[in-house]
Amino acid sequence: MTVIVSLDRFAAETLRTAIGPDTDILDSLQDVGGHLASHPAESVIVVAPSIDMEAALALAESLRVAKPHIGVVLVRQRVDSTLLAEALRCGVRDVVGDRDLAAVSHAVRRARELAGRMRQYSDEDLREEETRRGRVITVFSAKGGAGKTTLSTNLAATLADGGKRQVCIVDLDLAFGDVSIALQLFPAHTISDAVPLADTLDVSGLQALLTQHSPGLFALSAPLEPGQAEHIPASLVTDLLTILRNQFDFVVIDTPPAFTDHVLAAFDISDVVALLATLDIPAVKNLKLSLETLELLNYPRERWRVVLNRADSKVGLDINEVAKSLHLTIAAQIPSSRAVPASINRGVPIALDEPQHPVSQAIRLFAEQHVLPAAGAGHAAIPASLRTDRRGLLRRKAKQI
Ligand SMILES: Nc1ncnc2c1ncn2[C@@H]1O[C@H](COP(=O)(O)OP(=O)(O)OP(=O)(O)O)[C@@H](O)[C@H]1O
Ligand SMILES: [Mg+2]
Repeated sequence: MTVIVSLDRFAAETLRTAIGPDTDILDSLQDVGGHLASHPAESVIVVAPSIDMEAALALAESLRVAKPHIGVVLVRQRVDSTLLAEALRCGVRDVVGDRDLAAVSHAVRRARELAGRMRQYSDEDLREEETRRGRVITVFSAKGGAGKTTLSTNLAATLADGGKRQVCIVDLDLAFGDVSIALQLFPAHTISDAVPLADTLDVSGLQALLTQHSPGLFALSAPLEPGQAEHIPASLVTDLLTILRNQFDFVVIDTPPAFTDHVLAAFDISDVVALLATLDIPAVKNLKLSLETLELLNYPRERWRVVLNRADSKVGLDINEVAKSLHLTIAAQIPSSRAVPASINRGVPIALDEPQHPVSQAIRLFAEQHVLPAAGAGHAAIPASLRTDRRGLLRRKAKQI
């Protein structure tokens, strides 16, 4: 059930057309308490533009403590990033413009879904949920175009398995991320919207920034403008990932082709780092340097997995020779197929569209053998004492990569 609070009856009726007939209308915030007492199943409160902003935020703040499952959706005539940040900080689940009725409907639907999920848990379950640790998997390659976005989006879809597990894919390719394109998502919010929330970031604030792709699969999208990356501190990435791994069974991270501070923050919190390579000399050289860099950073070896993409390409390099010369085992081999770019152009992961395709099967096998087995167990975060002075180390290394 949903309730609209509005001083303006006509505006309330317009909102009701977007939300659905099963919606009550109150003409004062004062009536909300009584309404909630007599309607315990209420899950979403839509606050219309005619209601004073401060009073609406005070309501959201008090509900966040007293009835955290109830979502407040704020409808305003103008939505800007300052308003959004302030609202999310107070516990508002979403802020939408009053003329965008599709966004209003979408925001209410998401708030209802979240309320439903939060209700599923008793207080005891909630406590357990807060301390639960999902697994974090970072997909990385120091060379561009190796297939990171392909593997990360398909791995996330494979793990979600139509809603069997809760998975969030995080696009840490902050300048040129294309997870949204590969999944054909139109994100209302991106990781940039988390910047003003920084210290007050919590589960409901972060949930509001996610975009749902399909049952069990959510995305935290990269900023829409490349320049915004520099405003996102690495510490924020650590905070975001920490909250997400407590909420999701799996967090899959797509990365840019460089050892940025954001990528290092992701490595620190990851249970598995999938290092992608292809069978060409520059890629093998980059893989070698990446492995050396990870070693230099004291990154535990048992967490690396080398994944060969386009493994069947006949380009003169032998897989076994490469593995032998680098003293490593190849965890997975993904074949080359024209179906891959075609699936990206369609915006549907090949793992969902063609689950029996050899590419989908290879990714499923990787998930089953290297990602799923220790689900729930998790590794400890890498202690700060193990992390050497990275900037100096990487500066020297960057000259080589
Ligand atoms: N197994 C494969 N077979 C055929 N084409 C592939 C395969 N894997 C990836 N590709 C194609 O290679 C291109 C690069 O892939 P992708 O975008 O996943 O790489 P990336 O590592 O994320 O690149 P970037 O470093 O630019 O982010 C895409 O056009 C993709 O469709
Ligand atoms: Mg990419």
